[in-house]
Amino acid sequence: MVSTATQIGDFTFDNCLMNAAGVYCMTKEELAKIDQSAAGSFVTKTGTLEPRLGNPEPRYADIPLGSINSMGLPNKGFTYYLDYVIKLQNQPGSKNHFLSVVGMSQEETHAILKSIQASNYQGMVELNLSCPNVPGKPQIAYDFEATEQILAKAFSYYTKPLGIKLPPYFDIAHFDQAAAIFNKFPLAFVNCVNSIGNGLFIQDETVVIKPKNGFGGLGGDYIKPTALANVHAFYQRLNPSIKIIGTGGVKSGRDAFEHILCGASMIQIGTALHQEGPAIFERITKELKTIMTQKGYDKLEDFQGQLNYIV
Ligand code: SIN
Repeated sequence: MVSTATQIGDFTFDNCLMNAAGVYCMTKEELAKIDQSAAGSFVTKTGTLEPRLGNPEPRYADIPLGSINSMGLPNKGFTYYLDYVIKLQNQPGSKNHFLSVVGMSQEETHAILKSIQASNYQGMVELNLSCPNVPGKPQIAYDFEATEQILAKAFSYYTKPLGIKLPPYFDIAHFDQAAAIFNKFPLAFVNCVNSIGNGLFIQDETVVIKPKNGFGGLGGDYIKPTALANVHAFYQRLNPSIKIIGTGGVKSGRDAFEHILCGASMIQIGTALHQEGPAIFERITKELKTIMTQKGYDKLEDFQGQLNYIV
């Protein structure tokens, strides 16, 4: 019997596929649809200390090889999502979930994490260190000093399972430096990658989204090779206790298979979920299981991280 079940820390998931933060996760109604689908889990929209309206519309566009967005972290405030995941956690047979959060400053981030620490929530938190779309706020994880400072302080009081959502890195030296920092902390996971920040798509003579004069994060086919490189680079470098979530360019079972081959334990789907809706989880699960059956693999561990090199 072929299984796509997986594990991160002490949490088990019947299926390794789930949504990526930002897609199908703004409201409880959207999250319920993911929860009731074939997905193994869901992650909430990144919640901030206070609710946010985000950037002016249009702020998301489907483009030939994927998507471009500059949402600007619109969300209902982290307590909206925290209350919902606590409610679900208390229901018998509930799936395990991920609560995505970040503050607009380090102080806000710690206020949020302290509040989650004090709550009854026992599930995963995904700290978003990589949003490219808030004007005036650089992607946190490109600043290694700030990242280490945040993690050092967070782990001085936060004892529940915590992972981080990363921006894509593009240089071997940056993989080395980032991994050396992450290995200092008891992270449950790193999620590679958020959108490739600040791309520009032009139709005729005009940009396709309004914020930042058209600059926005790229998703979809544009980013799969970068996502796979980040998944594999961190799989090679991180302590084995830090699991990898692979995100970027997954729209088929083959794409999911490649992420797992690079070392991913769980796979998030953004652009393709936005285009196809929650039925995508059933389709991609079937496609992934077909590939595993053809290759004689029963479970993810049979091929996870076992990418072949040309010698
Ligand atoms: C956004 O809200 O701008 C997208 C989320 C992200 O990139 O982290």
